Amino acid sequence: MVKSHQIVITGASGFIARNLRKYLSEKNIKLISISRNNFKQFKNELKIVSKNYDENSLLPKIQNSDAIIHLVGIGKQSIKTNFDVVNVEFTKHIINLSKKAKISKFIFLSGLGVSSNTSLGYFISKYKAERLIVNSGLDYTIFRPSYIVGKNDLLTKYLKKQIKKGKIQIPGSGTYTIQPIYINDVVKIFLQSVLQKKFRNKIIDLVGPNYITFEQYVKLFSKGTKTSIKKINLEDVYQTAITNSKSDFRVDDLNILIANFKGNHSKLRSMTKMKFQSVIELLKSGRLL
Ligand SMILES: NC(=O)c1ccc[n+]([C@@H]2O[C@H](COP(=O)([O-])OP(=O)(O)OC[C@H]3O[C@@H](n4cnc5c(N)ncnc54)[C@H](OP(=O)(O)O)[C@@H]3O)[C@@H](O)[C@H]2O)c1
Repeated sequence: MVKSHQIVITGASGFIARNLRKYLSEKNIKLISISRNNFKQFKNELKIVSKNYDENSLLPKIQNSDAIIHLVGIGKQSIKTNFDVVNVEFTKHIINLSKKAKISKFIFLSGLGVSSNTSLGYFISKYKAERLIVNSGLDYTIFRPSYIVGKNDLLTKYLKKQIKKGKIQIPGSGTYTIQPIYINDVVKIFLQSVLQKKFRNKIIDLVGPNYITFEQYVKLFSKGTKTSIKKINLEDVYQTAITNSKSDFRVDDLNILIANFKGNHSKLRSMTKMKFQSVIELLKSGRLL
């Protein structure tokens, strides 16, 4: 049991934050969780609802915490908001808050495939946020995740919705691979990164042990559900993504999905000394359904 640590979490009602808060609360970590909307509190948790995370109201409450885990981010743009505003400028604001509140440890989720060579809008914003953090002087751990999967992540929700309709659509060939990681492993790694010095000032791929083609993933996910699987011409999927803002896949989702990004799982395993959940086994067990 870990005691007397206090961690601030932004974007508290998001998928990763909800799972992380539950786990940390069970470990008796003190939490200060911030969201724009009301949310259900866990044990040991101070709830802050703040529309714009304004400094005057937040600073006195988060002062001298041990770490901040910044989970605010968007993967889709619209005319109302864009990557630069949320992924870059908002991160800058949270870095400044951390400094003023004397919180020296900053943990951030970027994306697998983010690099100085990237040309994708979403990745450019994550790269810029990474640079702000690296140059901030704070002790940072930046994770670059592949798909983080659990009961309610976006991919799982998409597949469940399609299963209800009786048909899953795969963009293009489905032979591109992903390297999913289970949310229950992710939350443990976050706590390690707060507690252990070896995570200091590191950028780490957050990837699971298996590469799996999207087609295999979908087949295993929907096993036993009488769902038909249909491959859709990639041009058609892109055209829908470009012209319909409500389409299941946006252009950035498709770019990332088909890009075949691969991360260094052995490095993560040797740093964390954890036994990782195989997502293939998880899918076979039907526990994600
Ligand atoms: N899930 C993955 O597989 C994955 C993979 C790579 C990277 N990531 C990154 O991990 C982080 C968390 O991901 P997630 O899957 O948990 O996403 P999520 O469920 O969409 O949560 C993100 C949270 O960000 C907050 N947010 C969004 N727009 C905001 C705005 N304009 N101002 C303030 N807060 C805003 C919201 O929190 P409130 O509603 O509580 O205010 C939202 O719930 C994101 O940065 C994401 O890019 C996730």
